[in-house]
Amino acid sequence: MDAQEEDQTVIRNDDLPYPIVVSTNIRPPLRQFLREARRFVVLCDANVAKRAHALTAGIKGRLGVLPFALGERRKTLGTLEHIFDALAEAGAERTTTVVGVGGGVASDLFGLAAALYVRGVPYAHVATTLVAMVDAAIGGKTGVNLRAGKNLAGTFVDPRAVFCDVEALQTLPYRHLREGLAEMVKHGVIEGGDVFEALETLAPHAFWRWPWETVIADSLKVKTMIVNDDRLEAGARELLNLGHTFAHAFERAGRYRVSHGAGVAVGLRAAGLLALRLGRWSEAEHFRMLALLALLRLPLLVEEDPAAVLAAMRVDKKKRDGELRFVVPRSLGDVETGVRASDRTVMRVLERCVTVPDESEFW
Ligand SMILES: NC(=O)c1ccc[n+]([C@@H]2O[C@H](COP(=O)([O-])OP(=O)(O)OC[C@H]3O[C@@H](n4cnc5c(N)ncnc54)[C@H](O)[C@@H]3O)[C@@H](O)[C@H]2O)c1
Ligand SMILES: [Zn+2]
Repeated sequence: MDAQEEDQTVIRNDDLPYPIVVSTNIRPPLRQFLREARRFVVLCDANVAKRAHALTAGIKGRLGVLPFALGERRKTLGTLEHIFDALAEAGAERTTTVVGVGGGVASDLFGLAAALYVRGVPYAHVATTLVAMVDAAIGGKTGVNLRAGKNLAGTFVDPRAVFCDVEALQTLPYRHLREGLAEMVKHGVIEGGDVFEALETLAPHAFWRWPWETVIADSLKVKTMIVNDDRLEAGARELLNLGHTFAHAFERAGRYRVSHGAGVAVGLRAAGLLALRLGRWSEAEHFRMLALLALLRLPLLVEEDPAAVLAAMRVDKKKRDGELRFVVPRSLGDVETGVRASDRTVMRVLERCVTVPDESEFW
């Protein structure tokens, strides 16, 4: 390792059975991992193919770098089949490590491909979007979309390692960065304390001044701690659905014109509003959360018709025994799951979400 490489911060999280490495210079730890793997194939999102080549060039045992045009609409069984064919053609065998490079679509799709190819090969992911770093690549969930809905076919399977390639964020378009910021605010509300306050402190500053390694490592830790308690989603993981019952309904009612990040941002406001109506959380903290979302230039309202959103909510797969359950904040750092609310109350909340917050937010 040369002096410059040593200078770079490398943060390692060992909460889960595999290491998660966060760095602006991911090359040295990645190289070390791949040297131990001996033979490996790189699968990448075509938009980061150059990066995938550069990160793995000159490492012995590379069977190939295979780019795929991805995007949410290509997160399908059809793409999975192309990936299997490409792996076979490259000569991948049971002991070949598959390295995926890309965002959340790549980690869901390539992770699933690795879990299924010759009944499972070792998998590592190099995350190149903020969403993948703080959310999608962490926790071992993989999946593809079916005609019936998103992420309906997949597995729980742990990768061997996850590398958060912080330097890659420099090329990530702002609209994709924002998707990850919404999940980071969610983590901030769940964890409270320093995690929330760090975002508040940084939000007014330009992104290039943010200490991204630390911010990403702190945010993904919220997920690793929760996942560690609940690897197969029996209970605690439900906390991570804060804002998401609303988010999915906004997305569905808006026929996916509302992005997931926008859905989560407004979903957090909605969860806060619901908690206020149920007398569970304070106006002061609600306002702090809205202020943070606004400073990060995340939306606070959606245009979708409240009745259509409520209808979409009813078909949400997270609905249990016919009744809607919500995850709501009680205070920053204290979030409650399984909260019931009447349709009337939910409608009141949704009717607020089509307007900007003002003093009437609170009653
Ligand atoms: N499995 C899980 O637990 C989990 C959790 C959250 C989200 N997800 C999934 O993650 C997906 C969303 O992930 P995403 O937001 O990363 O989307 P994405 O993977 O589609 O990436 C967003 C866009 O950025 C491009 N891109 C990636 N890295 C880049 C870089 N460094 N520079 C420039 N462009 C780059 C991609 O090609 C794509 O166009 C969804 O499919 C969602 O279901 C899964
Ligand atoms: Zn989400």
